Amino acid sequence: MSAPERPRLAVLISGRGTNLQAFIDACNDGTLPAHISLVLSNNPDAAGLQRAEQAGITARSINHREFDSREAFDEALVQELRAHCVDLVILAGFMRILTPVLIEPFLGRLLNIHPSLLPNYPGLNTHQRALDAGDAEAGATVHFVTEELDGGPPVIQARVPIRPGDTADSLASRVAEQEHVIYPIAARWFVQGRLSLSGQQAMLDGNPIPATGIDHT
Ligand code: GRF
Repeated sequence: MSAPERPRLAVLISGRGTNLQAFIDACNDGTLPAHISLVLSNNPDAAGLQRAEQAGITARSINHREFDSREAFDEALVQELRAHCVDLVILAGFMRILTPVLIEPFLGRLLNIHPSLLPNYPGLNTHQRALDAGDAEAGATVHFVTEELDGGPPVIQARVPIRPGDTADSLASRVAEQEHVIYPIAARWFVQGRLSLSGQQAMLDGNPIPATGIDHT
């Protein structure tokens, strides 16, 4: 009898793909018992596409500029995700606002990572905003995606200190190291059947996850 097939992931990217690389590494070393079936990018020049190709993963670019509406673009993504029988969709630096066309069919199977301690700083320029506010800490949050931008229920959060002399870039690097740790953990919980979305509540092992996510720090 053949071994049961691993759960199938799709990773959606727009850029350099360091979170994608963390997923490739975690699948390869077995810490994430899953298979990346598909990498999709809206940006044909995304460096992350090369990471996928080097790892032997099917990678496609679907350029959002070739579609008349966000909905039409999302429909093309849904068709690809369905064609690959994807169990979990990982948004990893995917710089498009999603519509219900994609969110509804994958609700509860759609995760994002945001480079802030949500609910602080949804949207862009998170590190500069944390510096400008004089915050002592920054971080990253993995959350379920719902129709509220960066507003879906948090799953796991990592904190890092803000140090004197930090710039947005130095802070982004410190946060990114933690992103690469916590995102595969959240995916592992999901593929192990431990993590789910119940209405607007993220659940781990049948228990509600706190409003800012499990604190990984
Ligand atoms: C990360 O900082 C992530 O939090 C944000 O976009 C960035 C993607 O980086 N959503 P990479 O492409 O994974 O290197």
